[in-house]
Amino acid sequence: MPRPGWGKVPSPVEGVSWEKDVAAKYRAPRGTRDILPEEVGLWRHLEETARAVFTRAGYGETRTPIFEDTELFVRSTGEDTDIVEKEMYTLERADGTSITLRPEGTPSIARAYVEHDLAKQAPFRKLFYVGPMFRYERPQAGRTRQFHQAGVEAFGSDSPLLDVETIDLAAQFFDAIGLGGYEIRINSIGCAGCRSDFRQLLRSRLESRRGQLCENCRRRFERNVFRILDCKEEACRAIIMTLPLVAEHLCAACAAHWQEVQAGLKALGRPYVHDPHLVRGLDYYTRTVYEFIHGGLGARNAVCGGGRYDNLIGELGGSGPAGPVGGIGFAVGFEPTIAALSADARERATKAGSPPGLDAYVVRASDGAGLAALQLAQELRRAGFSCDLDFEGRSLKAQMRSANRLQARFALILGEDEVAGNSVTVRDMASASQESVPRAGLLEWLRARSLAPPGSPG
Ligand code: HAM
Repeated sequence: MPRPGWGKVPSPVEGVSWEKDVAAKYRAPRGTRDILPEEVGLWRHLEETARAVFTRAGYGETRTPIFEDTELFVRSTGEDTDIVEKEMYTLERADGTSITLRPEGTPSIARAYVEHDLAKQAPFRKLFYVGPMFRYERPQAGRTRQFHQAGVEAFGSDSPLLDVETIDLAAQFFDAIGLGGYEIRINSIGCAGCRSDFRQLLRSRLESRRGQLCENCRRRFERNVFRILDCKEEACRAIIMTLPLVAEHLCAACAAHWQEVQAGLKALGRPYVHDPHLVRGLDYYTRTVYEFIHGGLGARNAVCGGGRYDNLIGELGGSGPAGPVGGIGFAVGFEPTIAALSADARERATKAGSPPGLDAYVVRASDGAGLAALQLAQELRRAGFSCDLDFEGRSLKAQMRSANRLQARFALILGEDEVAGNSVTVRDMASASQESVPRAGLLEWLRARSLAPPGSPG
């Protein structure tokens, strides 16, 4: 029977109960998902590992809003990128302006660096972030519409050693969470100077083949010819493979930078592959670009992407005491990373991020002991012990099963006798030994045992 007030939900399948119809109607939106307690340990472990690895290298956690003025992304990510052209979740304001759910973290962190004048305080700053991002993409293996990134951004140095540090840091994160089999791909796409000459070259080489490009690329030919190099359309890819390579057209300073990045990676013992076709899909990059890819992921195989952006801070109106502020960073994608983890590594990470078992489970052994059980639980929690109890009026046996499932170290049994005698029957769940402990001395009794390793004599 429809419940009062729920009558407007049409029943799609005849004979299916109303509750099921309703439950089937409300689902997490396509490309998003819930993370339930059984799985959340894995996510916490990834987040905490990122925090630990980045903090160890001097990066400071930074939290920016989840939405920004749309203009920020248009300006920094780039008007002709896939993200800005077709993947942004944008809300129009009444005055004709709009806000956009952040599709990536770099523009927000760069905006914060400029807005708070961090360059004045100390031009060299290392910042990191962890959180959800939003892109309207086709959901596929490891790719979702709400996804989660952990990323770093370092501003105020154009040293190639910093490029090397960030690449090594991403690798340290993957090593720490137990991801095997990733490959580091790097390239240099030069500075604005080398790219302006290279653009001319691209135009001249593409002129006669414009008609064979996809519609987007035909437009990009006019507006931003470099973006064509990142097109994923098959017809365009075939043409792209015949074009000159940007890394072979670097100015002397960019070529030296590129050599030093490669020498640095070799010195740090990080194997890499030079992928001359890697240009990355965002407009702000200059010089070094990189991706970590994993074979188990299909076509969208990057678990991390990053690179240098020496003009971004300037584009957003910022500068340091000594002029332009360069920067570099990367973001790891948690969904692709989780999809690429082996079952073993996933299990280990989930365990590492999950809370330990309870200190105690309060077992109500008679109907009248309910309030006494809740009072005991309150007292224990206030004292810092973790504990839970039954709220479903279940049998003693069922409560003991809960104590087991929740990996409680002790079951604290309260029945008529215990309540009358001001005592608690304490059962050590590992050894199954039981003893009666005076109610007034219980906290001390537990404190003495919580310091001792599980299973050792009390
Ligand atoms: P990106 O390559 O767009 O770069 O994203 C970085 C990583 O986020 C990707 O390698 C992938 O692992 C993950 N990712 C991207 N889109 C999705 C999605 N729809 N679902 C799941 N995972 C996804 C950036 O975002 C730059 N902000 C990185 C950066 C930082 N460059 C310099 N600093």
